[in-house]
Amino acid sequence: MTSSAVAYARQNHPRFLEELKALLRIPSVSTLPENKDDCRKAAETLAAELKRIGMENVRLIDTVGNPLVYADWLHAAGKPGVPADRSSSAGWKPTVLCYGHYDVQPVDPIDEWLTPPFEPTERDGNLYARGSADDKGQVHAQVKALESLLAANGKLPLNVRVLLEGDEEVGGEGIAAFVASKPPELKSDFALVSDTELFAPGLPTLCVGLRGMIYTELEVRGAKTDLHSGMYGGAAPNPFFALAEILTGLKDANGHILIPGFYDDIIPPSPEELAAWKSLPFDEEHYRKTEVGSKQLVGEAGFSVLERTWARPTLEVHGIPGGFTGAGAKTVIPAKAQAKVSMRLVPGMTPAKAFEQYKAYVQKIAPAGVDVEVRLVHAGDPCLIPVNNRYIQAATKALHEVWGKNTVFIRSGGSIPIVGDFDRHLGIPSVMMGFGLPDDNIHAPNEKFHLKNYELGIESLIRFMEEAGR
Ligand code: BES
Ligand code: MN
Ligand code: MN
Repeated sequence: MTSSAVAYARQNHPRFLEELKALLRIPSVSTLPENKDDCRKAAETLAAELKRIGMENVRLIDTVGNPLVYADWLHAAGKPGVPADRSSSAGWKPTVLCYGHYDVQPVDPIDEWLTPPFEPTERDGNLYARGSADDKGQVHAQVKALESLLAANGKLPLNVRVLLEGDEEVGGEGIAAFVASKPPELKSDFALVSDTELFAPGLPTLCVGLRGMIYTELEVRGAKTDLHSGMYGGAAPNPFFALAEILTGLKDANGHILIPGFYDDIIPPSPEELAAWKSLPFDEEHYRKTEVGSKQLVGEAGFSVLERTWARPTLEVHGIPGGFTGAGAKTVIPAKAQAKVSMRLVPGMTPAKAFEQYKAYVQKIAPAGVDVEVRLVHAGDPCLIPVNNRYIQAATKALHEVWGKNTVFIRSGGSIPIVGDFDRHLGIPSVMMGFGLPDDNIHAPNEKFHLKNYELGIESLIRFMEEAGR
């Protein structure tokens, strides 16, 4: 069935795409202080658009970081909270909380982009730009779905709240505080999160689990100042070696994390979930070649790639700042060395406990002669979504209509910290309906969004809202 809203979306697609490009030209990199104003500009652009299409109570909400964008439209029958007896409350409509983020990752290494990251470019059916898939393209798809429904029908099929954030890529402290305060304007029945991907091109997918994370910094200090490496080499401690010892002590060559107790609380996937993963179309060799591009894959023996990336905790080093890294040579024993280290957590684990275990173990294995400081930068809980509810059913029905296939349920190894908070603080389940592809290069050079996915993403979101409001 092609609804009139879907017809509207198809007719207006060229304009939608131009508007998305305008949003992508704003370099809203949340981690860089110099892009603070750009983040606000992206928020203002989205707020203006939400207002233009007929959403109400549109406003920016200030946080410790970048502003949240809020909007609502609450004229469908019914208040949040499913009536105990739905039959006696004919016409009751649920309230959805639409979530996405307008901030993007930094663009480095800039030399590897074929076209500039903030000049959106169409190539081979894709739209290349930083943030195209993660997550401005998907936020935009939500907004355009709402526009299509409002323009075609003069109303929405259910009550809608929109909450967009601008700090997802840096831990989302602002939105976490707002959600934890349980404000009345977030009272909803379920969240619609568009920030994930399809398992494979053309395969409708709902993500039902995410890893959590703790992001940390280690700082190792040796001598009181940088020293001449000839005069003091042999007597002064070198913090880089201490750091290397610590890092190699955290994980063994097989990918097993050596922090005592780290694995104790893990809740493994059910046999049914594992069986479902086995039947997904996954070719490990193709994945190694096309997505990873390394000679070999690594990780814990006895677990498949999907288990290792979705359901096992991991520990990674992101960068090791410090010492002399300029051109040429400088003979110095640096006074300090740092490392940015994060761990992905799986259901059963909590950021607080994992951080305590990690911190204590780092101090224990730190070699003599140096001081080590362990700092927590940000943290987020893992989540696992229940699938036996009417919203997931409405989603699979809508996706089947648009994509002509049955939906697969997957987890993702990435993190979206606020999803766990929606459950914990607002008591609502999330439907993670996203339209990225595994090879979209998110967080990497040449990020893209498949144009067909943008188009069918809008149609899927329209049909989902229509189904959820039936
Ligand atoms: N959209 C991603 C998370 C994601 C990636 C979900 C792939 C599903 C598939 C999100 O923007 C992200 O990158 N999150 C960060 C969160 C962190 C900074 C707290 C991440 O996972 O590193
Ligand atoms: Mn994202
Ligand atoms: Mn991201």
